[in-house]
Amino acid sequence: MAETTVTTRASLQMAQWTKKDLLGLRELSAEEIQLLLATAESFREISLRPIKKVPALRGKTVVNLFFEPSTRTRTSFELAAKRLSADIINISTSASSMTKGETMLDTIKNLEALKIDMVIIRHAAAGVPQLIARASSASIINAGDGAHEHPTQALLDLLTIKEKKGQIEGLNVSIVGDIAHSRVARSNVWGLTKLGASVTLCGPPTLVPQTMTQFGVRVTWDIEEAIRGADVVMLLRIQHERQEAMLVPSLREYRLRYGIDRQRLKHAKPDVLIMHPGPVNRGVELDSDVADGPHSVILDQVTNGVAVRMAALYLVSGGAKFEETGV
Ligand code: CP
Repeated sequence: MAETTVTTRASLQMAQWTKKDLLGLRELSAEEIQLLLATAESFREISLRPIKKVPALRGKTVVNLFFEPSTRTRTSFELAAKRLSADIINISTSASSMTKGETMLDTIKNLEALKIDMVIIRHAAAGVPQLIARASSASIINAGDGAHEHPTQALLDLLTIKEKKGQIEGLNVSIVGDIAHSRVARSNVWGLTKLGASVTLCGPPTLVPQTMTQFGVRVTWDIEEAIRGADVVMLLRIQHERQEAMLVPSLREYRLRYGIDRQRLKHAKPDVLIMHPGPVNRGVELDSDVADGPHSVILDQVTNGVAVRMAALYLVSGGAKFEETGV
C-alpha cells in the first residue's frame, strides 16, 4: 500500500490534471496521458484485493449514458465507479424521456438538477460529448463518439502495451482494419505518437486513406509489410455495413488479404503482441487460434480497462489529494 502511494506521488510530479472533462487524446499533452497511465497503474492493484473498494470518490454521483450498445466500456466504467465508492446509475436511453422528444441538452440539465457530478457518454454522432461538456457544469467523459475518439480505449491499450513491453517510446505499432471509421484508431494514433511510438496504419485503400499520413503515421495497404518488424499489431473490427457500402468486396476477401491467422503471424517478431478492442469478428480480422494464442493480450486489455476508467473518473472529479483517498 505504501508503495502505491509513493508511485502515485512520483507520478503526480509529472503533471497536474486541470481539465473538467476527458473528451479525447488529441487535446491532451504527453504529460497528461502519462499522468492518466500512472494513476491507472496505482489503481490496478485495488481490483486484486479481496475487498475491491476504496473511498476515493465517496459521495460522488456518476451517470452512464450510452446511446450505442456496449459490453466492455459500460461495464468497466460501472465497476470503476463502484471500486472508488461513487454512486453510479445507468440510464437506458430507450426508456428515457428522450424518446418523448426531450433534447439531449435538456436531459443533461435535468440530470444536473439532480446534482450528479459526472456523465459518461457514448453516442453515434461525433462531437456530442464536446457539446455537452460546454453546456454542463458536470464532468463529461467520452466513452466513444462516432468515428471521432474513444479515449479510455486508447488509454487501456497504452497501459497494456506499457505493462507488457515496459515502455511505449520507440515501439513499432501497426493498426490494421477499418481506420477511416474507427474512433479507436484515431485515439490510439494521438496517444501512441505523443508517447513516441511509430505507428503504421494498414487495410484496404477504401478504409485507410493515404491522407492519414498527415497525422505523423505511415500508411501501407500491404499486410505483410505492416506486420514485419511490428512490436504490436492491433486489429480492428470489420463491420458488416462496410461490405454493404461496397468498401470491401466481401468479408471472405478481407480475411484473405488482411486477416491474421497463424500462417501470417510467422512474418511478425517472435514477441509480437496481438491486440483488439473487441468485439472480435472471429474468422474475419482474426482467427481464433491467434485471438486465443500466446501472443494475444486481448483479455488483459479488458482487465486494464477498469484501472484506466478509475483513473479517468478520479482525475476529472478533481482528484482530491491522493493522501486523502484512503487508497
Ligand atoms: N472496445 C469497446 O468499446 O467495447 P464495447 O463496445 O463493448 O464497449
